[in-house]
Amino acid sequence: MAMEFVSERIANLEPSMTLAVTAQAKAMINEGKEVCSFGAGEPDADTPDFIKEAAINALNAGKTKYTPSSGLVELREAIAEKLLLENNLEYSPNQVSVNCGAKHSCFNALFAVCDPGDEVIIPAPYWTSYPEMVRMVGGEPVVIETEEANGWKITAEQFENAMSPKTKLIILNSPGNPTGAVYTEEELKAIAEVAEGEDILILSDEIYEKLVYGETKHFSIGSISSAVRDLTITVGGFSKAYSMTGWRLGWTAAPAEIANAIDNIQSHSTSNPTSFAQYGGLAALNGDQSFIEDMRDEFDVRRQYMLGRLQSINNITVVEPMGAFYMLVNIGEMGLNSVNFAEKLLSRYEVAVVPGAAFGSDSTIRFSYACGLDVIKEGLDRFEKFCREH
Ligand SMILES: Cc1ncc(COP(=O)(O)O)c(C=O)c1O
Repeated sequence: MAMEFVSERIANLEPSMTLAVTAQAKAMINEGKEVCSFGAGEPDADTPDFIKEAAINALNAGKTKYTPSSGLVELREAIAEKLLLENNLEYSPNQVSVNCGAKHSCFNALFAVCDPGDEVIIPAPYWTSYPEMVRMVGGEPVVIETEEANGWKITAEQFENAMSPKTKLIILNSPGNPTGAVYTEEELKAIAEVAEGEDILILSDEIYEKLVYGETKHFSIGSISSAVRDLTITVGGFSKAYSMTGWRLGWTAAPAEIANAIDNIQSHSTSNPTSFAQYGGLAALNGDQSFIEDMRDEFDVRRQYMLGRLQSINNITVVEPMGAFYMLVNIGEMGLNSVNFAEKLLSRYEVAVVPGAAFGSDSTIRFSYACGLDVIKEGLDRFEKFCREH
């Protein structure tokens, strides 16, 4: 296929490696192989029935037409209320924009603020789409390697040192994918101070906010002060908390001029998020939240089991992840890069993990524990054998 028709900007994009491994594992399963797949980026639970019913009712009631481009007023009001009550973030509903998944929220946010050549600081290991999104909107990703010893978190000092006159924005993702790292209030305050000093915007991707474990608390950086909030675009959504990945529904809450820009982008691209999915989202926010607690408890059981098993294996290291549903394993001592490691593990032992190269971290692999304990047990038995043989 001739590439001369594809724009340079898009031709240079990397395909999503997380989706590629999951697809390969699925193909092997279809061939009848018993693959233990740790590639999942979505909760394994179904969407709760009351949310589905709300969408079905919306369809039956004829809510099948365009909505306002930034989403239904009542949904934006519900999100603004949630942000105030749960996150201590004061946004008016017209600063909230409902988008087609939090991925789309991040993309819109970057599109709204980046001019060509603007630098965007991305702590690595990062969620695989951030650098590609920055490139798509014409910006320059500036990747900063974090230390395993610091729990894979960027320090205020590293942030400050990475800054140049072209720096426009830093992307923070807490709880994080792929590390499971959760920043403390103090850590975020130190980072916010640097951002405030230089007027740097913050994209705070909080899609995993509901999935934190033990005594860990999720903290929204925009809640530090009104000055920090006015530099922050907060991203959240339904996918992980309510197991609604296929619904494509997320949100941004941003300073008014950025919210208006996102509304404008959306009015000329998607028009609006799917009407009846929005009614599902409204029900999710207004309904019984106990589903989340149950799902989190289940994740926590798997998390503790997986952590114990991985920590008992020689030549690899893993930091206890306090959020999300991933474990990032350092395989630096094993003498294989992450892609070779993941390929061998899949082809020889039928265990699917995501190579850290997808996250800018070639000495790691990512396990997801969004799968049943039986799969986790079997998969870790095989993984342990694989590590012993290498
Ligand atoms: C860090 C992070 N942000 C955003 C998303 C996208 O979420 P959504 O499915 O709502 O687009 C994901 C999904 O994997 C993610 O890991």
